[in-house]
Amino acid sequence: MKKVRKAVIPAAGFGTRFLPVTKSVCKEMLPIVDKPTLLYIIEEAVASGIEDILVVTGRNKKILEDFFDYTPELDALLENDGKRELLEISKKMENLANLYFVRQKHPVGFADAVMNAKAFTGDEPFAILLGDDVIYTDKDTVPGIQQLIDCYYDTGKPTVAVMEVADSDVPKYANIKGEEISKNRYAIEKIVEKPSIQNKFTNNAVIGRYVVERDIYDIIRNTKPSPKGEVYFTDALQTLASENRLIGCKFEGKRYDAGNKLEFLQANVEYALRDPELSDGFKEYILKLSELLKQK
Ligand code: G1P
Repeated sequence: MKKVRKAVIPAAGFGTRFLPVTKSVCKEMLPIVDKPTLLYIIEEAVASGIEDILVVTGRNKKILEDFFDYTPELDALLENDGKRELLEISKKMENLANLYFVRQKHPVGFADAVMNAKAFTGDEPFAILLGDDVIYTDKDTVPGIQQLIDCYYDTGKPTVAVMEVADSDVPKYANIKGEEISKNRYAIEKIVEKPSIQNKFTNNAVIGRYVVERDIYDIIRNTKPSPKGEVYFTDALQTLASENRLIGCKFEGKRYDAGNKLEFLQANVEYALRDPELSDGFKEYILKLSELLKQK
């Protein structure tokens, strides 16, 4: 079986949930503490053995490429000032992985974004990571996409990440039905994009991590568009499920929806509390604030 060495990150969306900031700063650059959300996704892929990463961008997303580029003026300044630690942080961004960028000409959804990766992935199986889903794993836990890659190696079948959600969150995600074949692994029979609570199969939702093979391109091409005119990636996955070739992997780790304001703020608070430099001061502040809030 071929190794999963490549990953695709769709990042062409407008980020309308974060207007007005997304008029000129793309949502993938919004920071959780001091790193853009896209960097968390790339670090997860790299920690999972991914070597080549294609970011599918769009117009007004040049800032993403610049972030991973050489910054000679800044680096010279840090060098002159003897700020070695900061210089290392800056240099690290240049050498994280082999990064490639392609523009999705007409941002018509996730499946169309994936189609832009065909030449990049060639014959190899590949991972897909959606930028809004940030998965925190502690140092003793296998990174999110690595858990799916392991499942793909064990089962030989394309795999999607699954998480149990409350009824009220069911309509936000693809929803699956399937039998648990081994601990936290499901043979998916049915998968549907964002059902109403009444029409859900289960409370198992699909989160933005996938491992697929090269046949996904033909499947997408042969999938009928939804009434809104968009081919849903989820409908393409249903073809795999119908052939008994799709596994759901309930992953370990805490997932944040960085595309949602409340969860983005929660992610910032929790990552700050985990940061050795910030945690003491920040904790003290939060405790004081919660006392004040209680008095109100
Ligand atoms: C996308 C997918 C959906 C999936 C979700 C995971 O939706 O279309 O199937 O469950 O990501 O976050 P979006 O969040 O882009 O609306």
